[in-house]
Amino acid sequence: MNAPFKAAGLRDPFNAFVCDDDTLELIRVAAADLGWPIEKCNKGGLRNAVQSLSVSASPNILFVDMSESGDPINDINALAEVCEPGTVVIAAGQVNDVRLYRDLLSSGIQDYLLKPLSLDQVRESFTMAQAMLSAPKHADMHDDKPHHMTAVVGVRGGVGASLVSTSLAWVMSEQGGRQTALLDLDVHFGTGALTLDLEPGRGLIDAIDNPSRIDGLFIERAMVRASDKLSLLSAEAPIHQPVMTDGSAFFQLEEELRGAFEMTIVDIPRHVLIPFPHLVQEAGTILLVSDVTLASARDTIRLLSWFKHHVPGARVILAANKYQNAVGELSRKEFESSIERPIDITIPFDPKLVSQAAKLGKSYAEICKGTKGAQAWSSLMRIVIDGADESNEEAAATGKAKPAGGSLLGKLGGLGTLVAKKGAK
Ligand SMILES: Nc1ncnc2c1ncn2[C@@H]1O[C@H](COP(=O)(O)OP(=O)(O)OP(=O)(O)O)[C@@H](O)[C@H]1O
Ligand SMILES: [Mg+2]
Repeated sequence: MNAPFKAAGLRDPFNAFVCDDDTLELIRVAAADLGWPIEKCNKGGLRNAVQSLSVSASPNILFVDMSESGDPINDINALAEVCEPGTVVIAAGQVNDVRLYRDLLSSGIQDYLLKPLSLDQVRESFTMAQAMLSAPKHADMHDDKPHHMTAVVGVRGGVGASLVSTSLAWVMSEQGGRQTALLDLDVHFGTGALTLDLEPGRGLIDAIDNPSRIDGLFIERAMVRASDKLSLLSAEAPIHQPVMTDGSAFFQLEEELRGAFEMTIVDIPRHVLIPFPHLVQEAGTILLVSDVTLASARDTIRLLSWFKHHVPGARVILAANKYQNAVGELSRKEFESSIERPIDITIPFDPKLVSQAAKLGKSYAEICKGTKGAQAWSSLMRIVIDGADESNEEAAATGKAKPAGGSLLGKLGGLGTLVAKKGAK
């Protein structure tokens, strides 16, 4: 929410724009109870609010009466254009429709009160708004630590990139103690929310529909909380609708998450990555997830080369998932020699615990706690955190990110030549 032209000034604690005298009287009483200035309660409803806020600083808390609004969602969006980030907006109206209520909430409204209003109802809503304002913001909590973004990319479909994303996000938040955001860019088929047994909400879809609305407040409202240290932005977009985006919404989301979290894990499907390479431009770590098969060897080679071309300075980590010693399609040695670099970490094929995790609606890493499998997740977390610390130190010293990948190159083998040829294009 941004207003282009504003008179500079301190924020009022409260403004109200109502449509009728009864509501005006009631709002004045509730405002006075909280010690807010009652002269800031005006007549004129939503239209007046938009006019007024386009030329003056937005208040901390704004009450708008939408009774005279013919198109509430459109009018609220007009308000969002002029209202500065950080304002908590409470709306009231006469339309009793749950869809409208949901749409208003997803437009960034804090509360919608049905008219006629009662004094208790208004007081309660104002008190909630005040509590929300005084709660610590994500950004306030940890602006001392630099941000690190890890982009997780599966070299082929179904190799387990999403399982790795949710598990890494879990381990990073629980054991790494970092405020972590998981951004699932598989808009139609994403499993981030499903894995953690959460409703994805409309946040990601709204961001794509209206990228100009993405700001810190939008992030605070749109992120779905999995725990006090892990939040998620994911979607289950209707599959009869194509996603219309030029990638700017995704990029802006990454930008905002950078300001609000310590760690962002982005699950990026290849069909999103290839047209929008700038999405990984700022990634401190690129985590390629593969299985140990011939086809994955070919596509690992292609993607390693793609990353080298598009993000030459990036640190690329290679995780071999569903790893089965001695019974896989290729041996580890064959795979590594074909891709000309070692695997950095292996995650075992573990159908039993993976199935248990699915049934309990928890990440696989959480279910692994206390078992042998937990080792892989703490090691992966360590690799990412160490890399983050290293690149932060280096960035502080030189102003540049640390290039990686080159030193990890492995030895060429016979199979390497075969797959390298196949993967050359
Ligand atoms: N280590 C593992 N052991 C056993 N099963 C696994 C493991 N990793 C992933 N799976 C299973 O493999 C399937 C695919 O995993 P996932 O959805 O994470 O893959 P993906 O690479 O994100 O797929 P997509 O290409 O559809 O995005 C899931 O059923 C998942 O539970
Ligand atoms: Mg996936």
